[in-house]
Amino acid sequence: MQENYHPIGIFDSGYGGLTILKSITEKLPQYDYIYLGDNARTPYGSRSFDVVYEYTRQAVMKLFSIGCQLVILACNTASAKALRTIQQNDLPLFDPTRRVLGVIRPSVEKVPSYTKTGHVGVLGTNGTVLSNSYPLEIAKISGDRIFVTQEACPMWVPLVENDETCNPAADYFVRQNIVNLFSHDPEIDTLILGCTHYPLLLSSILKFLPDDVKLIEQGPIVAESLAEYLARHPEMNENCSKKGTRRFLTTESVQNFEPRASMFLGRPLTAEKIQL
Ligand code: DGL
Repeated sequence: MQENYHPIGIFDSGYGGLTILKSITEKLPQYDYIYLGDNARTPYGSRSFDVVYEYTRQAVMKLFSIGCQLVILACNTASAKALRTIQQNDLPLFDPTRRVLGVIRPSVEKVPSYTKTGHVGVLGTNGTVLSNSYPLEIAKISGDRIFVTQEACPMWVPLVENDETCNPAADYFVRQNIVNLFSHDPEIDTLILGCTHYPLLLSSILKFLPDDVKLIEQGPIVAESLAEYLARHPEMNENCSKKGTRRFLTTESVQNFEPRASMFLGRPLTAEKIQL
């Protein structure tokens, strides 16, 4: 482990977490960041609880071994299926001073100030939808005042991972899921993009979204919530190194990862291949 190198770790099953990294680095550029995409094993959305937990635990341990004191699971599926077990079982045994945070809670905290009708839609992977994490978390902060309808979009992550976001097939699947969601609840006025890959399909999503529906996009929300977290936890803030470096790790080939990741981040980057 490099001495005094304590980057903030950002983990996702693939490219989606880059949407979170982009917003976080815009808001908090001074920190060191290390991104890990488990591109070789993506998608996580259709995998069982045990598998998502095990893959996520391996990724978090890898980031800890490199020096991260704080890791953000920039993946809703991992946040839904692995976060709690890692926080409750793994951290106390490994190192109670380290932290792992997810993306669901910060997104849900925005809901009451967005919705006027009290009807909210959630788009996510099969794993996120079946976990019921969004309805449960929303109920914790709003009781039964907010009515949540979920729609699983199993085709969306493969479209992003396979660079097919501009293919007419993307419009076909995006339209199908959005129409389905609103046919179940036409009163929805707030839509949570509950998967970090989905902003990469934004131009298609906006074609089919009713005009008056507000979108909850996670990047800026997670960035704001991280800034608040670091302000509330000076001990963690001091522990995170601040040389403004960025490092990228992928479990896939670097040749596959670099061009696409550069496109999503809007700048060239070099990556390192690792094994989990
Ligand atoms: N980006 C991840 C999420 O936010 C999931 C993608 C996957 O299915 O691997 O849920």
